[in-house]
Amino acid sequence: MEDVAEVSGFRVRFAEPQDCDRIAAMCAALWPDGTVEEHRQEVAAKLAGEAISTLPVVILVAERQDRGLCGFLEVGLRSHADGCDGRKPVGFLEGWFVEEDARRHGVGSALVAAAEAWAREQGCAEMASDTWLDDEMSQRAHEALGYVVVDRCIHYRKLL
Ligand SMILES: CC(C)(COP(=O)(O)OP(=O)(O)OC[C@H]1O[C@@H](n2cnc3c(N)ncnc32)[C@H](O)[C@@H]1OP(=O)(O)O)[C@@H](O)C(=O)NCCC(=O)NCCS
Repeated sequence: MEDVAEVSGFRVRFAEPQDCDRIAAMCAALWPDGTVEEHRQEVAAKLAGEAISTLPVVILVAERQDRGLCGFLEVGLRSHADGCDGRKPVGFLEGWFVEEDARRHGVGSALVAAAEAWAREQGCAEMASDTWLDDEMSQRAHEALGYVVVDRCIHYRKLL
């Protein structure tokens, strides 16, 4: 498959089935509530085009020369997102992760640029994303790439 982008020392491309285990390990680092095996099953389904989602979703990966994958970004379409025009689907950054030793070298930015290009091809005019209120690093990274805060939420739950 053709590269989506090539930046100094690494390239960004669409994930392939053989990337599943590495992506699952990175998912577990990003979302530790799930086990590597649980993530592996979800990633495998997405890479096989069998994601439990009515709208398209793809996974992009960043690969370092001779050193394997160092980041991934899962991007999908959502029918609506807070602060966005509800009349057409929005590209949504579902998961965005770069290994610690590869950070601050433009890998995250290159993944987002590729995700935005993909969403544009799907007909989107807007991107959206979310992160945790206490995750300063993620907030700074989003803002550096032009993402503007539109809302701040607290999620509630009550057992019935
Ligand atoms: C967020 C993340 C994906 C960014 O990846 P990255 O490869 O470091 O991103 P880049 O190198 O392209 O950084 C782009 C810009 O974001 C900002 N930025 C990134 N990390 C930052 C940090 N720790 N503190 C302040 N600004 C930061 C900077 O402006 C940076 O540009 P600069 O390095 O030229 O100053 C990575 O830090 C990560 O995986 N974090 C843990 C998981 C996470 O928070 N994911 C996002 C929420 S789902």
